[in-house]
Amino acid sequence: MNHGDVNQSRRRFLVGATSVVGGVGVVGAAVPFVASWNPSAKAKSAGAPVRVNISKLEPGQQMTVEWRGQPVWVIRRTPEMIEHIKQMDSKVLDPQSEEPQQPEYAQNQLRSLRPEFLVVVGICTHLGCSPQYRPEVGPADLGSDWLGGFFCPCHGSKFDLAGRVFKSVPAPLNLLVPPYSYIDDNTIMVGVDEETA
Ligand code: FES
Repeated sequence: MNHGDVNQSRRRFLVGATSVVGGVGVVGAAVPFVASWNPSAKAKSAGAPVRVNISKLEPGQQMTVEWRGQPVWVIRRTPEMIEHIKQMDSKVLDPQSEEPQQPEYAQNQLRSLRPEFLVVVGICTHLGCSPQYRPEVGPADLGSDWLGGFFCPCHGSKFDLAGRVFKSVPAPLNLLVPPYSYIDDNTIMVGVDEETA
């Protein structure tokens, strides 16, 4: 995946491709992903919940599905990634997720129902660009203190691996966490709260 080409990235999403990109050890790779996401046109237009098969998502990888016309990312975080998030509190603007950018059940340090999986809307909270998934540690362009996260190429906003926005960047809010729930250990339903699943 060419991280510098936002339009290409968005175009690929808009044609409906579901894919897995990035990941520890395979940074930059784009791998076809066979997901169970296949709602009917009618269901899509109604904004129905989207069932996501996460069984083939490897540790460190990201996949994208469409929900209500928006890209929703699912990232399978490694134990190392989770440790890195815990080191980021002093660098992020809203470490406790006090702004209403997530359901109550995701208002925690990792901003998720289960530590391993992050589910966020992949739209920058500044002006709506599509941030890049940058899971690597200390890349040359992001600096030696970068511990993995999301980088928005439009105006340079940065988010950690919980989608928490850095201080002193244009984006004012953490990435949005949509309502979601687990059907089982291999299946997430995006668009349905845990309480009502
Ligand atoms: S739209 Fe992401 S930094 Fe401006």
